[in-house]
Amino acid sequence: MTHFDYSRRQFLHYAAAGTLAASLPGFIWADTREVRQIPNPAFKADVEIALTAQAADVSIRPGPHTHVFKYHGKLLKGPQEALTVIPGYLGPILNFQQGQKVRIFFYNELPEPCVTHWHGMHVPQIMDGHPMYAIRKGEQYVYEFEVKNPAGTNWYHAHTHELTATQVYQGLTGLITISDEHEQKLELPSGEYEIPLIIQDRSFTNGNQLRYVLGMHQRMTGFLGDTLLVNGQENSTIPVKSRAYRVRVLNGSNARIYKLGWNDGTPMTAIGTDGGLLHRPETLPYIMLAPAERVELWVDFSGRKIGSDLILQSLPYQGSMHRGMRGMRGGMGGMGQDDTLTIAHFHIAEQVGDSPKLPTELVPMRRLTRKDASNPDKIVPIAIGMRHMAFQLNGRTFDMLNYQAAEKIPVNTIQRIRIFHENRGMGRGMRGGMGGMGMMMSQPHPIHLHGQQFQIVSRRQNNRDEGYDSVKEGFIDSGWKDTVLVMPGEEVEIIKPFNDYTGLFLYHCHNLEHEDMGMMRNFFVS
Ligand code: C2O
Ligand code: CU
Ligand code: CU
Repeated sequence: MTHFDYSRRQFLHYAAAGTLAASLPGFIWADTREVRQIPNPAFKADVEIALTAQAADVSIRPGPHTHVFKYHGKLLKGPQEALTVIPGYLGPILNFQQGQKVRIFFYNELPEPCVTHWHGMHVPQIMDGHPMYAIRKGEQYVYEFEVKNPAGTNWYHAHTHELTATQVYQGLTGLITISDEHEQKLELPSGEYEIPLIIQDRSFTNGNQLRYVLGMHQRMTGFLGDTLLVNGQENSTIPVKSRAYRVRVLNGSNARIYKLGWNDGTPMTAIGTDGGLLHRPETLPYIMLAPAERVELWVDFSGRKIGSDLILQSLPYQGSMHRGMRGMRGGMGGMGQDDTLTIAHFHIAEQVGDSPKLPTELVPMRRLTRKDASNPDKIVPIAIGMRHMAFQLNGRTFDMLNYQAAEKIPVNTIQRIRIFHENRGMGRGMRGGMGGMGMMMSQPHPIHLHGQQFQIVSRRQNNRDEGYDSVKEGFIDSGWKDTVLVMPGEEVEIIKPFNDYTGLFLYHCHNLEHEDMGMMRNFFVS
């Protein structure tokens, strides 16, 4: 049985583009390809890791093993805790300290090109895993960077041209944790009281092989699976003690957006977002978590009955085109976004005496405002639009080395950026008038920017849409972010520093099917 149903697209080898690159000011593409195949002796690494992308057969569900793509990691130098292997198909968890110098030897043993991106990390262009740096089978790429990010939860994944969705789907994902002094002072729950929670939806054939089929409908929505995996396993039950835990949640799904909530209505307590810890904990009735977003939860099981379960669910919501598609749900196995889904059971297995208290303040954070912008009168646009049945950004689809005038950013500046839907006047009227077309345009998009983390300044909803009411209390806008969920009709203003590094840095929709379709562009920082 074929377990993978898509046609491999022709890979373009970008060596030929070297001449193109030469015309970009300050852009030394031509020699980076060779240079990055050997370590830089002047870079004194504290941590060295060998990371190999390879095909593997792993046990995900009972019965036959599943054929996957997997990051295999090996610690070559540095503290033992820098690398944690987890069962299943996910890569090892990489645990870094702020200030560490990290060298990663990346080997591609896959039958197709591959490149790895350190999502959320503030690193130079040639270390960032831009698709132009993809390597072929048997090749090596040496990543070297200093960990500048503060304590938080990042991740790494394949970022190969037009193959990101399928490579990530097959397993090329792993978590990164970062610790720093501020965080250590807080003495947050750690060790066995700190739980990674990577949520992904997948579909399987009867023979336990991953199934990836994009029908007409899913080509627009992105892939939605019928089985939820947590840390690469099905039916996740996590035994816990009656005390507080720190849970690092990553939505590692291709396209599915979760509305996280507890089955008994307990509010959610967040202590961190994409880019690190919050200034203060936030309590929300539920949390919207789009692909690539992270949230760190404080979960206190104190006082709960031994033997009882607290269930993390994805609650029903509207405001995406998955609504109203009931007739087409057959292929989605009943897992639409207006269903309640079980993500994981926390089983209170053991009584313990005491529990740490939730700190009232976490880490210092300065709120950026419009006044902090280097040029407060200028706003960099990110316009979400659609042409020829494909989503675009700023009127264009992805083009490896290309950027427009509006995509040029002076280095060491702070920029206001406005993310909005083009044709927004049409959105609403068309929904009735043009049916399918209107629905396609009213989609949520998780917009991700590479490089430094940003802050959310404001959100404005232009559609008077009752669907929005079912999600609007689930956004955490007070922390550092690298991905922001932009709902249909919504306009989001963010403010982002572009410090230290010049070159091409991607911004794109992190619905991976949208990304591979070309909903991605470059900023050129110079
Ligand atoms: Cu997580 Cu450009 O991506
Ligand atoms: Cu990224
Ligand atoms: Cu999108």
